[in-house]
Amino acid sequence: MQTTGGPSVLTIVDADVRAPRTGEVLLRQDAIGINFVDTMIRKGQYPVPLPAVPGFEAAGIVTKVGPGVESLSVGDRVAYFFDQGAYATEKVISTSSLIRLPDDISNEVAATFLAKGATAWMGLRALHDLKPAETVLILGASGSVGSVLSRWARSLGADVVGVAGSLSKLDKAARGAHHAFHSQDPDLGDKLRHITPNGFDVVYDLVGQATSSLAVGHVRDRGVVVAIGAASGQTPSNYSGLAGRGVEVRSGGAPQFVHGRAVKVATEELWQLVRTGVFDDLDVARYPFEEIVRVHQDIDDRALDGLPVLMP
Ligand SMILES: NC(=O)c1ccc[n+]([C@@H]2O[C@H](COP(=O)([O-])OP(=O)(O)OC[C@H]3O[C@@H](n4cnc5c(N)ncnc54)[C@H](OP(=O)(O)O)[C@@H]3O)[C@@H](O)[C@H]2O)c1
Repeated sequence: MQTTGGPSVLTIVDADVRAPRTGEVLLRQDAIGINFVDTMIRKGQYPVPLPAVPGFEAAGIVTKVGPGVESLSVGDRVAYFFDQGAYATEKVISTSSLIRLPDDISNEVAATFLAKGATAWMGLRALHDLKPAETVLILGASGSVGSVLSRWARSLGADVVGVAGSLSKLDKAARGAHHAFHSQDPDLGDKLRHITPNGFDVVYDLVGQATSSLAVGHVRDRGVVVAIGAASGQTPSNYSGLAGRGVEVRSGGAPQFVHGRAVKVATEELWQLVRTGVFDDLDVARYPFEEIVRVHQDIDDRALDGLPVLMP
């Protein structure tokens, strides 16, 4: 990426990959996770020095180890999330960023679920400790993070209502939740009130601007709004008026919450859910490496057909 802008600023270039230094390894990347934040980097909404290699998440095989590396060997399968420069067929990376993958978790599964799962874990375990039978409203339930979050919340015994962005995505939200609606529905407020007249215990907002009034209107007094996404833009109101009702608004970034010892806790829980089939009905949208422009265009157009993974 030489400059910021539309999807076409992403171009594939040949580059030499340097040898790994002390504490680093060289990876051959098999699957690259694509995340909404990648589009924000591309648009310049989060400035990075240019030219830049975007992407934060991938899985692959160690092909070379640098001096002093004892924890990993050539041939080990590993993954990482939140380490910039993932859109590449090979990458030199510090071992401190890497997670060794269990034998039964493929590289593709890791790249599909790691960052989204870490974000869901942050919302369900760290920002709020979700209890069985709590009522949960997920705004953005048809999206990548929302799909993972809704299934995970349901597996914890919560009563989950998902809101899709539009009628055409209603089915996506419905597959992961006990009830689903779409945000254009003129009767949405009545329908949500019919389910929980006093409001939801927890509202997860992944959409921001377009849905913040739903969060404000349908969280119960002394409930919690977990505001961890803004796919439609930042909420201008900052959920105003909630403090007077005893509602807590909690926000955070997965890189800050899922680090150190939390990485092991979060990933073990995530892989266990993968094993038990909690995410089995989710589609993976695989894009050949050469089609990086198309996947970014699909995110911009809200036309993703599954959790997006780039395949080198
Ligand atoms: N805090 C963190 O650490 C963290 C980590 C990962 C992601 N995030 C954030 O979470 C958000 C979602 O990420 P994602 O990967 O799930 O993105 P995504 O797959 O593109 O999903 C976006 C969701 O938002 C909905 N949406 C978008 N614009 C809308 C609008 N104008 N009105 C109503 N609904 C709208 C979409 O509805 P449709 O399905 O109908 O299009 C979809 O449900 C992003 O803001 C991302 O940056 C935060």
